[in-house]
Amino acid sequence: MEQHIRVLLDDDKGGRRAAISLVLLAALGLVFLLRRRGGDRLSSFPGPRLAAWTRLHSVAAVLTGREHEMMLEAHRRYGPVVRWSPNTLLISDPMALPKMYHLRANKTPHYNHSPGEFRGMVEENDWRKHRQKRHRMDPPFSSKSVQDDEPLMDAFIAEWIDALTTKFTMPNSQVFDFSDWGNYLVLDIVTKRFFGREMGFIKHGDKTRMLADSRANGPAIHALARLPQLKQFLLHKFGRFLIPTAGDGSGLGNVLALRDEFLQERLAKDEKNPDVGLDQVLFDSANAGMELEELKEDILFVILGASDTTGHGIRCLVRNLLQNPSCLVRLRKEMDAAVMPPVGTTDRPSSITFAQIKSQIPYLSACIRETLRRDPPIVSYLPRWADDDHNGTGGVELCGRFVPAGVEVACSPYVLSRSRDMFGDDADDFRPERYLESSTPEWVAKAARYDFTFGYGPRQCIGQTLSHFITCKTIVQLFYHFDIELLEPGSGKAFLNWNYSGLKIRLTRRI
Ligand code: HEM
Ligand SMILES: *[C@@H]1O[C@H](CO)[C@@H](O)[C@H](O)[C@H]1NC(C)=O
Ligand SMILES: *[C@@H]1O[C@H](CO)[C@@H](O)[C@H](O)[C@H]1NC(C)=O
Repeated sequence: MEQHIRVLLDDDKGGRRAAISLVLLAALGLVFLLRRRGGDRLSSFPGPRLAAWTRLHSVAAVLTGREHEMMLEAHRRYGPVVRWSPNTLLISDPMALPKMYHLRANKTPHYNHSPGEFRGMVEENDWRKHRQKRHRMDPPFSSKSVQDDEPLMDAFIAEWIDALTTKFTMPNSQVFDFSDWGNYLVLDIVTKRFFGREMGFIKHGDKTRMLADSRANGPAIHALARLPQLKQFLLHKFGRFLIPTAGDGSGLGNVLALRDEFLQERLAKDEKNPDVGLDQVLFDSANAGMELEELKEDILFVILGASDTTGHGIRCLVRNLLQNPSCLVRLRKEMDAAVMPPVGTTDRPSSITFAQIKSQIPYLSACIRETLRRDPPIVSYLPRWADDDHNGTGGVELCGRFVPAGVEVACSPYVLSRSRDMFGDDADDFRPERYLESSTPEWVAKAARYDFTFGYGPRQCIGQTLSHFITCKTIVQLFYHFDIELLEPGSGKAFLNWNYSGLKIRLTRRI
């Protein structure tokens, strides 16, 4: 995912466009050279005709920024198994998840974008090695650890509310684009938590140009994921020219420099600071022989993977609530009963805890879930090998069809969560009640079991608890402090991250 940003092309637009054209041209050439000759063992699987013939079909889909919608349309037309490129099958049946994302499933080269030999957990293809790499990163993401950081989150959320107040309500309320404000908050919280120092997004916005840069490069990186041979070729031949380096002045170069600084700062300490997530990894004797270059990859992914996911969740939740006033009324009612200070006091209700939110404002959890379902931050397909045995003897049955080993199989969070079989004819609507009184507990449990928003199985998102915690606390404080008027909902395209903008709102202090 965001990790891919390492393969970055240059900053300037011309360079990028030239690079994309180069990619496409070279790909076209390679298609002819590398196209599998002989029998086509997937010929009986339905899908767009071009998809059976060339990977460029999926490259073209990605470059539109609405690949997710195209995949959903393809499933509605061709059924639960769709051939999306010569060796890739997309699956839309959530019941197939356990067979695809099982304990021993290996990731395909789709994920490999780093030039070096060192792989962080996200790029690690091998399930055994992944398990080990994941294990050492787990402690700072545990529920206990997230819980312990509640005061830190409160402090940043308060700073964020103050920044929104001074910038956009004083002296008068003014219209502004809220789209990236969730990202700013999440980035500061996550960097402070993991590295002991925040990046300063609440104060300075995207001054480092990290967000702008990762968005600008999304299409090229996402396209290259679909052309693994070409990608390897480019990395070997031109790697040094394509990859940003720490401090080269590009947005990602800035992030790499900061990443190296964070690590050096922590390595320079002789004892563990229990409040710093990275210290929990560095000072664990079980990790003594750890390869620091691998850890650097993981750190980068924590920075890049955290913001546009949780940030997209927050922006869509705010938008969905404003577009569905009856939902907002219900949420406000629960919230005000839970957090309003007694009449005559003006204290900030900083004391509302996550535990209180969970027990007193159940509707908020339903709204968050519904937003992540309707507008999943990660929409693209997440491939695995159909079997972890590459010697051609294995295979797996998916949706009643036999899929031979060595085929790339994948589900998309967007496709699964817009399933009409699972969610009914109103799957495209925002309706949090579907998780509450309007469904049976059995259905709610099933929907949770087959949820793919955060992935599935051993590679499921490590930051899920943290993300939920931040989102709950942020939304309560935002709607507690402000009345919010929606002027424009904005829109976006999905590459690696969402390139979303234009969510125009006006804030008025309520308290
Ligand atoms: C709403 C918020 C989020 C969503 C929807 C989300 C989604 C996902 C998904 C779908 C995957 C699986 C990728 C795959 O199988 O290819 C994943 C993995 C991952 N996510 Fe998240 N994520 C979110 C928040 C976060 C946060 C806040 C962090 C870190 C602070 C984070 C860090 C990671 C990491 C490190 C992995 C890789 C785990 C592994 O390979 O074992 N994510 N996420
Ligand atoms: C992202 O969106 C902005 C505003 O719509 C647009 O100007 C920019 O070209 C987009 N970037 C990409 C990579 O699509
Ligand atoms: C294929 O690999 C599996 C394990 O990966 C092994 O058990 C099996 O014997 C192998 N089959 C052949 C024909 O090599």
